[in-house]
Amino acid sequence: MTATIVVGGFWGDEGKGKIIAHIAHTDEPSIIARGGVGPNAGHTVYFEGKKFGVRMIPSGFVYRDAKLMIGAGVLINPEVFLKEVELLKAHDRTFIDYRCAVIEQKHIEADSKDYLKEKIGTTGSGCGPANADRVLRVAKLAKDVETLQPFLEDVPIAINEAMDKGEFVLVEGSQGFALSLYYGTYPYVTSKDTTASTMAADVGIGPTRVEDVVVVFKSFPTRVGAGPFPTEMPEEEAERLGIVEYGTVTGRRRRVGYWDGELARYSAMINGATQIAITGIDKLDKECFGVKEWGKLTSKAKSFIEKVEEDTRTPVTLISTGPEMEHIIDLRDEKL
Ligand code: GTP
Ligand code: IMP
Ligand code: MG
Repeated sequence: MTATIVVGGFWGDEGKGKIIAHIAHTDEPSIIARGGVGPNAGHTVYFEGKKFGVRMIPSGFVYRDAKLMIGAGVLINPEVFLKEVELLKAHDRTFIDYRCAVIEQKHIEADSKDYLKEKIGTTGSGCGPANADRVLRVAKLAKDVETLQPFLEDVPIAINEAMDKGEFVLVEGSQGFALSLYYGTYPYVTSKDTTASTMAADVGIGPTRVEDVVVVFKSFPTRVGAGPFPTEMPEEEAERLGIVEYGTVTGRRRRVGYWDGELARYSAMINGATQIAITGIDKLDKECFGVKEWGKLTSKAKSFIEKVEEDTRTPVTLISTGPEMEHIIDLRDEKL
């Protein structure tokens, strides 16, 4: 067996958490491993009627039979991590790589003022300064933190051995393509690359073992914080369309835009997309809310999805029609 990576195609907040929850419940991975930057992420998952926002633990936690792992590339905020473990009662199945670098109070302070806060509009979670310390080779690692000892693991060994045994491994990315330090709208980006190759490296999987890359796009892209947004719509237009959103971590209002086919194509290319998941089809056409079959979508929704396939040159296999886990059309059996 091989691995599937799920990444964001635009500026994050595409609904990766929801897509991951669906894939986990249908494909039953033995391990769900998180790559990405750190607790700047916020994934929202609705589960058993409750809304959960997670920043550190993989959003795949809703699938109870998987071990949850955080790869070495990801920054750990021990306080945030331990709180989530407690909240989700996930002590027995959560592991972090002993080489994860640690966010300290000084990083959060440096991230909450001056250039980073005022110009870049960071999440203030300390990720940029902690990654800078990591590059300077002065950052503390998870293995040096007492409270993290019970969770330490060699994540690449766990994952590669699981795959050797024929088990399925799901890798979740965070943030989104256009926030990549390399390929995004620099300097208005996050503190590392956010493409699928980096997610594989973050958790310790070689590129030859990755079978599928699912790139998640939303029908109306959003962006939080400063920086270019070529297809942005006026705030009043988002209000008129009833598609205003607020951030999971910062509570900031998200800027909203129209579909950007050019960016989607570039993103699908660099991510090596084998499948596209599209969320928010109910925002495109209210009549599609909660629809579970392709045949029941409106022609407006169908032609939009066909355009997404043309733009990305990749099949759209997962179509999300609302925030709940069961609001989804899964075409993987038909299209792959
Ligand atoms: P990041 O790591 O921050 O990029 O997280 P994410 O991709 O998991 O997205 P996030 O949870 O921050 O934001 C997505 C929002 O859209 C959440 O509030 C979801 O509940 C919601 N959502 C996901 N899919 C759909 C959908 O198909 N329709 C609607 N209306 N909302 C959706
Ligand atoms: P940082 O990652 O906190 O340094 O923030 C840098 C930029 O990335 C800012 O514009 C943030 O709003 C954005 N960003 C970081 N993480 C996320 C995320 O998970 N979703 C959306 N935007 C994010
Ligand atoms: Mg988010």
